This record gives sequence, C-alpha cells and structure tokens, in this order.
Amino acid sequence: TVLVLDFGSQYTHLITRRLRELNVFSEMLPCTTNIADLDFTPKGIILSGGPYSVYEEGSPHVDPAVLDLNVPILGICYGMQEIAYRVNPENVIAGTHREYGHANLKAQTVNGHVDRLFQGLEDSMRVWMSHGDKLANLPEGFHTVATSDNSEYAAIAHGSKHIYGLQFHPEVTHTENGTKLLENFAVGICGCQQNWTMAAFLETERKRIRDIVGEKGQVLGAVSGGVDSTVAAKLMKEAIGDRFWAVLVNNGVMRLNECEQVKKDLTENLGINLTVVDASQVFLDGLKGISDPEKKRKFIGGKFIDIFEEEALKIEAAAANSDRAGKIQFFLQGTLYPDVIESLSFKGPSATIKTHHNVGGLPERMANGSGLRLIEPLRSLYKDEVRELGRALGISEELVMRHPFPGPGIAVRILGEVTPEKVEIARRADNIFITEIRKAGLYNQISQAYAAVDPSRAVGVMGDKRVYGYIIILRAVVTIDYMTAEAFEFPWAVLQKVMNRIINEVDGVCRVTYDVTSKPPGTIEME
Ligand code: XMP
Repeated sequence: TVLVLDFGSQYTHLITRRLRELNVFSEMLPCTTNIADLDFTPKGIILSGGPYSVYEEGSPHVDPAVLDLNVPILGICYGMQEIAYRVNPENVIAGTHREYGHANLKAQTVNGHVDRLFQGLEDSMRVWMSHGDKLANLPEGFHTVATSDNSEYAAIAHGSKHIYGLQFHPEVTHTENGTKLLENFAVGICGCQQNWTMAAFLETERKRIRDIVGEKGQVLGAVSGGVDSTVAAKLMKEAIGDRFWAVLVNNGVMRLNECEQVKKDLTENLGINLTVVDASQVFLDGLKGISDPEKKRKFIGGKFIDIFEEEALKIEAAAANSDRAGKIQFFLQGTLYPDVIESLSFKGPSATIKTHHNVGGLPERMANGSGLRLIEPLRSLYKDEVRELGRALGISEELVMRHPFPGPGIAVRILGEVTPEKVEIARRADNIFITEIRKAGLYNQISQAYAAVDPSRAVGVMGDKRVYGYIIILRAVVTIDYMTAEAFEFPWAVLQKVMNRIINEVDGVCRVTYDVTSKPPGTIEME
C-alpha cells in the first residue's frame, strides 16, 4: 500500500486513482493521521498538495513519525514544502507571483538514486503547476533534480534517503508522463507489486466477508437495480450464498418495466435470493396532494424505511426457520470510496463541507433500531472499480454501465404533484429517450439521461386538431463526480427523432424541450 496523506488539495484523490490504475493499492487519509494508529505499514508515503502555507500559524503538519517509518516519501507541492519546512522553516517563502498552468520542466542529471524518480523519462517535459509558495533554498542534504522557468527547485531529492519533492502535480493528466513518475516512485522506489486487480480484490473480499459473517450469520440488504447495490449483492451471493437476503421495494416511481427487469436480472441471471415487495399503490396514494420537492423526498424515504423494516421482520422469521438457520445480524450497504474520502478528507479550519444526499437514513435506522451491523464491501472502491468488479462477477455490461437513478425515482422528475397519469407519461417518454440514445451509440458517453414532465400545458396542433398537453423536458449530462456537470451536446438528428417519437407515441404530450443548464447553477435532477 502507498499511503497518501491529504493536505486538502482538490487533486489528492487523483493520486490514489493514478496509483490504483497502475494496479498498486493506495489509500488516502487526512494529513493529521497519527502514524501509530495505522493498522498497516505502508510501503511508501505521498504528501499531497494543499491550499495552505506551511509557515502560517494553524497550517496542517504531518506527524513527525512519518519520517521514522523509514519508507520512501514523496511530497507534492505543499507536501514538498512541508518536507523543506521540516528541515528548516526558512526554506519556504511566498513566491512573487502564483504559478498556475503548464510549465516546461528540465531534468538534471545527478548521480545515484536521486535519478530514479525520472528514470525512463525525457529530460524535458510539460508539467502542471499550481502554487503560490516556493522553496527559497535547497533543503540541506537535497539535490535539485529538475527546474522550470519559474521554479528553481521544481523537483528535489535527498542525497542518501528516499525522500523526494515535486513542485508540480504528477497526478493531473496535464502533466506529461505524470503517471510514469508515480510508477517510478511506487514500483521502482517503494517496491510495490502491481497486483491490485479486481480479480484479486474479489478473492480477498469474498474471504473477508466470510470471516466477518461467519458460518451461520445472515445478511440483509436493499437492492435497486443500480450498479452499486447489484454488485454488492452479487458479491454477497458469491461469499455466503442464500444467507444473503436482498429486498427490492417497488415504490411506484420506478422506470418502465424496471421492477420486472431487475427481478429477472437478479434472480434468473445472478441467482440472488431476492424478495420483491410491491408497494407501488401505497406510495402513489401517499404522494397525492404533495407538490413540495422536499416533502416528496421525505415521504418516499420514510415510507421506504417503514416497508423495508416490515419486510425485514418477515425475512428474519423466515430465516430463523430455514435450513440456513440463524439470526440476521448484518445490513449490507453499498457505500463507495468517494463518500468515505469525503468524510476523511482534511477540510481545514474554514473549508465548507459538501452537502450529501442522505440515502434515506436506512443504514442508520437498521443499525440503531434493529441493532444490525453494517457491512460495506465496496467502501474502498471508486465507481469505475465497482464496474470492473461487476464484470469480474459476471454481471452484464449493460447493467454494469447503467446510469445512476435517484432513490425517489421519477417523483423528482415530475415537477409538482405526482399522479399515476404523469408517472406513466414520464416513463414512456424516458423509455423512448433512452432507447434512442442507445440506438445512436451515445449511452456510454452520457453520465445520466432522463425525461421529466412539466405539468404546465402548452398548445399544439396535431392533425387538424388543436391540443393542449404537457411539456417533456429531456436532460442528459456529462460529469465525472456528479458534483458539477455539463449538458451533453446531442447530434441534432437524435433530438429530432426523440421529439418525433414522444409526440407521436405518448398521449398527453405536445412539446419536447432539451435542458441545456449546467450544474451549477442547475442540479442534475429537476427537483
Ligand atoms: P443533483 O440533482 O443533486 O444529483 O445534481 C446528483 C446525483 O445524485 C442523484 N440524486 C439522488 N440519489 N437519492 C439518491 O439516491 C436522492 O434523493 C437523490 N437526489 C439526486 C442524481 O440522480 C444524480 O446522479
């Protein structure tokens, strides 16, 4: 493992990602981590960049014990300044101007191990800089390994210890051969093996789950048909067979034929022990008269928990009487690494914390109310790794690449009150939109797409008749992290085709519009 200590840079998680892409396992922890508290010994440590100045009071500093671990250390930007500051506080000063953007790096030949970071790279390369402070002097015992026009000490290395510093960011794709540099550090210098693959993860995780759950333990989990819950469920199935109980609640606001399809995928194709609860009428009845978005979300989230708990009791009774006998002690949760990182990142004294979509409060309720222990097998994985794991588990490509779908479903894609009529319209329009996107081969270029219903009515002419119908809003976005997003640039012909089909095939609609709003200021969902 390479341990990445986070000083709050927006790029920190990219370091972890790049290393994992090299099949080297890497974990990120806050820069304030107490080294004595680690339950593993890293093979190398990377100190990330950060928005602070090392010499300012209150700035974060790394546990001095890092240096006593005797493993290679790489400081990036703030991380390098931290190393220099430790040698002598006078080594770091504010630069006369900020350096942001591309810079040309010139590597210098220095004998000995200090060259190893740049092994196999050209002497000159384009790198990405983003810093205000800089080194005033070369720290004692270090050599300059590379310079740039504005940074005399663009890369430094200690003469005898494996300590390195880079003023630029090798983790961002704008830095040429940045990944090679990280590979030189992790593999060449730290001696990490490149054996972190999803097949290997699957093997160890399966065993870990068996160890935690034991010979008799049983696990309960909610599935939605989405990538995360499906992959987590299949993993549990592989680990403990039918001692994993999956529950799918039909909340009446799922997509066209979705419930049937998910049931088929999970039971027939993946062999998961699944119970489907059709509560659609209860949800649709309860949604009558509610038009406030937050109230809709609250109602759906709350009702979902009630129904899930009711079902859990039934399953618990069934489990106790089955040949698998034993109490249900665990609750499966498909938490991913970005959520874990979000709660572990170093935020500093003044940083604002992003608000999160609470997944309806179910895990907390199950843990507190029912005393179930959470089991989170995906918590060390990024989304693309979950997809890879899904493939390793034999889940179909179509399911593995599915766009996300919100818990409150179509209810947040119908502006205002949800009625069965509008749900039906949204479903049909959405189905046409997604079908045409797939036909045009665009599905995997788009991060999320759907059709929403605006219940204001517009006038149209169809045949010789004047009609008065709902407005369909098409939305398709491209995003990496779902925190910011851009509208997808459709080929005009595809939008035309979708418009034509919706108008002709979905009764009650007379206009189709495409939402070009980015996020921010918009959100991905309508409500
Ligand atoms: P917004 O609309 O906030 O959405 O830009 C960002 C991402 O989160 C999904 N989303 C939800 N997911 N429960 C969920 O499980 C929710 O209440 C919820 N609201 C939004 C949305 O689909 C998008 O992927």
